[in-house]
Amino acid sequence: MLFPRSLLLSVAALTGCSAAQAVPTGTPLPGNYTGPLRPQVHYSPPTGFMNDPNGMFYHNGVFHLYYQYNPTGLGPGNQHWGHATSKDGYTWENQAIALFPPNQRVFVYSGSAVVDVNNTSGFFPDQDNGVVVVFTFANYNEDGSTGPQTQAIAYSHDEGYTFQYYDGNPVINSTSSQFRDPKVIRYGDHWAMVVAYSQEFVVAIYTSPDLKEWTWASNFTNHGLLGAQYECPNIVKMPVRDRNGAVVDEKYVLTISLQPGAPLGGSVTEYFIGDFNGTHFTTVDAATRLTDFAKDNYAAQFFYGVEGNPINMGWASNWQYTGLVPTGNNEGWRSAMTLPRVNYLTKSAPRIGWTMVDEIYDPKSIMSVSPLKAVTDMGNGNVTVDYSDVESHALYIEANVTGLDVTKTSGLTTLNLTFTSAASGESLRSGFYFGGDSTFFVDRGQLRGFDNVYFTDKFSIADVYYDNPKAASWSIKAVIDRSMYEVFVGGGRHAGTVLLYPTQPLTVVDVAARDMPAGAQVSVAVWALNSTWAGQADGQGTVLGNATTATSTTPSGKAAGLKRNMLFKSTFSA
Ligand SMILES: *[C@@H]1O[C@H](CO)[C@@H](O)[C@H](O)[C@H]1NC(C)=O
Ligand SMILES: *[C@@H]1O[C@H](CO)[C@@H](O)[C@H](O)[C@H]1NC(C)=O
Ligand SMILES: *[C@@H]1O[C@H](CO)[C@@H](O)[C@H](O)[C@H]1NC(C)=O
Ligand SMILES: *[C@@H]1O[C@H](CO)[C@@H](O)[C@H](O)[C@H]1NC(C)=O
Ligand SMILES: *[C@@H]1O[C@H](CO)[C@@H](O)[C@H](O)[C@H]1NC(C)=O
Ligand SMILES: *[C@@H]1O[C@H](CO)[C@@H](O)[C@H](O)[C@H]1NC(C)=O
Ligand SMILES: *[C@@H]1O[C@H](CO)[C@@H](O)[C@H](O)[C@H]1NC(C)=O
Ligand SMILES: *[C@@H]1O[C@H](CO)[C@@H](O)[C@H](O)[C@H]1NC(C)=O
Ligand SMILES: *[C@@H]1O[C@H](CO)[C@@H](O)[C@H](O)[C@H]1NC(C)=O
Ligand SMILES: *[C@@H]1O[C@H](CO)[C@@H](O)[C@H](O)[C@H]1NC(C)=O
Ligand SMILES: *[C@@H]1O[C@H](CO)[C@@H](O)[C@H](O)[C@H]1NC(C)=O
Repeated sequence: MLFPRSLLLSVAALTGCSAAQAVPTGTPLPGNYTGPLRPQVHYSPPTGFMNDPNGMFYHNGVFHLYYQYNPTGLGPGNQHWGHATSKDGYTWENQAIALFPPNQRVFVYSGSAVVDVNNTSGFFPDQDNGVVVVFTFANYNEDGSTGPQTQAIAYSHDEGYTFQYYDGNPVINSTSSQFRDPKVIRYGDHWAMVVAYSQEFVVAIYTSPDLKEWTWASNFTNHGLLGAQYECPNIVKMPVRDRNGAVVDEKYVLTISLQPGAPLGGSVTEYFIGDFNGTHFTTVDAATRLTDFAKDNYAAQFFYGVEGNPINMGWASNWQYTGLVPTGNNEGWRSAMTLPRVNYLTKSAPRIGWTMVDEIYDPKSIMSVSPLKAVTDMGNGNVTVDYSDVESHALYIEANVTGLDVTKTSGLTTLNLTFTSAASGESLRSGFYFGGDSTFFVDRGQLRGFDNVYFTDKFSIADVYYDNPKAASWSIKAVIDRSMYEVFVGGGRHAGTVLLYPTQPLTVVDVAARDMPAGAQVSVAVWALNSTWAGQADGQGTVLGNATTATSTTPSGKAAGLKRNMLFKSTFSA
C-alpha cells in the first residue's frame, strides 16, 4: 500500500514530533469497543488507524491476522504490524504489536506469512511451527521523499507472537520507490512470491528455496483494469466445484488491488482465474472480474495454511474517504476488516462462466441459539424485527426463494431488506429485482452521519443466473453490524461490503416480498449476533486483549521478551 497524496502525512511530520508518543511493546493497546458505530462482529483495531490485512495464516486451529497499523493517529502514517488471533474467525483477541518500524525512516508496509514446517529457511532448529513474514520496507529519504521499496523478512519462534528481523535484509533489493506487497505461497519444492511493481502495472513472480534467496521468474503485466496503481497481489489455489458442490478441478486465482482509479472511485480488487506452474500464471480467459460490487473491500488476503476452500478477509474501506469517516473523531478508531469469506470457483452459471464464489464463513459461533424470527413462507408479506434490545445491534439474516417461475415475474417482483432507525427515521435500503435485469441494490443514501463527495451511496449488481427458470431458487445472506453491511447474493456469486453512518443506531429490519408468482416460497430467518468484544471487556468497558507477559522461552532457551527488545521501539507519533 501507498498512501494517497491527500492523506499522506509528510515523514517530517511523522518523525519531527516533539511530544514523542511511545507505542507499547509486549502488550496490546487497550480498546473501547462500545461506541455506537463500532462493529461488534468484525475486527477493528483497539484504537488508531488500520489498513491492509497482512501476514494472514492459519495454524494449530488459530487464525492470525496482522494489519497495517498506525497506533498513534487516525490516518495512515507510522506504520506497524498490529496483530490479532481468533479460533472461530469472528472472535478476535488483540495481541501485542508484532512489527515496529526498524528506524525512523523505514516503515513496514504490507506483506504475508508462511509457516516454514520444513525449516527451509534454517531459522528453526528443532521446530516445525516457525513463522516467516515477508513484507516491504518502505524507505524514506531525509527530506521526506519516497526512497526505495525493498522486500524483507522476519521470523518468529513462538508461532507469530514475536518476531526478529533477518539480519540479511533486504531479501529483494531495488531502486524502485513503487515495489511492494509480497505474498508468498508454497508451490511443490519451492516458495513463490507475487509482488507489485505498482506504477508499472506489473505483478512479478519470484521463487526461492529458502525464503532468503529470491530469483525473478516472470512478469504478469498490464492485465485487466489498471487504475493508477497495482497493489497487494495475492495468488491462491482454489477448488473448482460443480453445481452440486463436488470438486471437479482446481485452478489458481490471482487478485490485484487497484488504487486509485477504481470504476466506482478509489480502491477496488480485481481477480483473474488461471493456471500456475510455479513460475508463470496464465489466465483462462481475457475477462476482468471484481471481488465486490460495492466500494468498501480492498487488499483482501487469503490465509496461508487453509486446506480446501480458501478463506479471505479484506480491508473494509476505501482510500477516498477512509481518513475522514466519523468513527475517528467520535470514537477514536478508523477501519475494520470484512468478515471472513470462503472461496471456490464454479462455472455453474452458464451464461457468465467462471465465477469466484465469496460466501460468508459460517457464523454459527456468534449466532443466537434460536432466531429472533423465522418464517418458512412469508408469501407476498413481510417480516419485521425490532432489534433495539439486541445489545450488539448486529444481525445475521437469511432469505431463500424457491419454486420461482421466472417467466411469471414482473418488474415489481422484489425481495427487500430495509433497516431503519426508529429514533431518526434514517434507513438503509437493499433488495433484489427478480424480473428484468435481475439486479440487487444497496442504497446508503438515506443515512445522514457522513457526507463526502466520494462516499457513493448506491450500488447494484446483476445476478442473472437461475438454476431452473421454471422452478428457480435464489438466496441472500446478510450481516448488519452497526456501521457495516455485508451481503452475499445468490450463494456468494456476488458480495457487497458497505460502510454506513447513521446519526442514530439502526434498530428495525423489515424483509418484504412483492409480486412473487404463485408457487414461489420465501423463507426468512433473522438471528441476533453476540458481540465478540463485550465478553472481553473489563468493568470499565475496556478490552485489554492478550496482556499476558510473555514468559515462554524459545527452543534456543532465550526469553521471548529478550527477542522483542531486539526490535526497535517506536518513539514517534503522527
Ligand atoms: C467508551 O466509549 C463510549 C462511547 O464512545 C464512551 O461513552 C465511554 O465513556 C468510553 N469509555 C471509556 C472508559 O472511555
Ligand atoms: C515438507 O516436507 C515434506 C516431506 O518432504 C513435504 O511433503 C511437504 O510438502 C513439505 N512442506 C512444505 C510446506 O514445505
Ligand atoms: C534448521 O536449519 C538450521 C540451519 O540450517 C540447522 O542448524 C537446524 O539443524 C535445522 N533444524 C532442523 C530440525 O532441521
Ligand atoms: C540495495 O541497492 C541500493 C541501490 O542500488 C544499494 O545502495 C544498496 O547497497 C543495496 N543493498 C544491498 C544490501 O545490496
Ligand atoms: C519485469 O518487470 C519489471 C518492473 O517493471 C521490469 O523492471 C523488468 O524489466 C521486467 N522483466 C522483463 C523480463 O520484462
Ligand atoms: C511454466 O510455464 C511457462 C510459460 O508457459 C513455461 O515457459 C515454463 O516452461 C513452465 N514451467 C514448467 C516447470 O512447466
Ligand atoms: C450469546 O449470548 C447469550 C447471552 O449472553 C448466551 O446465552 C449465548 O450462549 C451466546 N451464544 C454464543 C454462540 O456465544
Ligand atoms: C410488516 O408487517 C407488520 C406486521 O408484522 C405490519 O404492521 C407492517 O405494516 C408491515 N410493513 C410493510 C411495509 O408491509
Ligand atoms: C423494494 O424496493 C424497491 C425500491 O424502493 C421498491 O420499488 C419495491 O416496491 C420494494 N419491494 C418491496 C417488497 O418492498
Ligand atoms: C436457506 O437455504 C439453505 C440451503 O438450503 C439452508 O441451509 C438454510 O437453512 C435456509 N435458510 C432459511 C432461512 O430458510
Ligand atoms: C498471548 O501472548 C503470548 C505471547 O505474548 C502467547 O505466547 C500466548 O499464546 C498468547 N495467548 C493467546 C490466548 O493468544
